[in-house]
Amino acid sequence: MTQARNGAVVANPAVPLGPEPLLDVDDVSCVLGGVRALSEVTMHIAPGELVGIIGPNGAGKTTLFNVVTGFVPATSGEVRWGGAPLRGGRAHRVARSGLVRTFQNVGGFTGLTVAENLELATRGRDGAAVRRVEDLLHLADVRDTLVEDCSLATRKLVGIAMALVRTPRLLLLDEPLAGLDDTDRDRVTSLIEQVHDSGVTVCMVEHDIGRTLRLADRIVVLDAGRLVATGTPADLARDDVLARNYLSS
Ligand SMILES: Nc1ncnc2c1ncn2[C@@H]1O[C@H](COP(=O)(O)OP(=O)(O)OP(=O)(O)O)[C@@H](O)[C@H]1O
Ligand SMILES: [Mg+2]
Repeated sequence: MTQARNGAVVANPAVPLGPEPLLDVDDVSCVLGGVRALSEVTMHIAPGELVGIIGPNGAGKTTLFNVVTGFVPATSGEVRWGGAPLRGGRAHRVARSGLVRTFQNVGGFTGLTVAENLELATRGRDGAAVRRVEDLLHLADVRDTLVEDCSLATRKLVGIAMALVRTPRLLLLDEPLAGLDDTDRDRVTSLIEQVHDSGVTVCMVEHDIGRTLRLADRIVVLDAGRLVATGTPADLARDDVLARNYLSS
């Protein structure tokens, strides 16, 4: 572990090694209605990684997703996507370039079936992607079911599927396990693993620390808008203070 410029404890400061990062978040701050939601956050995601972002309520996790996907502008700092600055990036343009997210608590539009939601997400242009994602996430059996008649776990998967049919290079998942029981958490976790194994780089915000530590290659800890630590799950577990404050659920 080493001390970063802004005081954060950073394990493996050179991470990511190897390929150029897909996403660079460089010294990003974001003030929302007088609240400093992000303070000087620097992090990178390399192609092929599965990164878990953890931290208490209000840590700035969703704000980080909002900033990198162009929903909310950074107050200062820079986000680069594939090496190019995302300045004033409009959200739909960012998504078209392969940086696609899910939303906390959203799983498809009611009044539409699962298949209609997926077709809507591709604007009716990519039936092949819809079929491929239905198979990958085991949604084929419920394709003609209205989303409001699906279980919460299935609706979570519909939310992920709506992002996946847009063929992301980087998929950002905001609390994919929230509200699920243990059985459904295991089911959704193993499907996220399959999505990652299929070649999609994944960054996931979660409060389920145990499953995130088992799933992720690397963990980023945010607290009160600041990046507190980043490293492999094993790196972080070796630090008593981090383990006590952030890794026990
Ligand atoms: N639109 C807004 N206006 C003012 N403050 C905001 C706004 N959105 C978020 N905040 C504040 O910014 C901080 C970070 O919020 P954020 O939603 O990013 O946290 P989070 O880590 O995603 O929390 P949770 O785990 O509860 O989802 C919080 O203090 C929150 O109250
Ligand atoms: Mg959040």
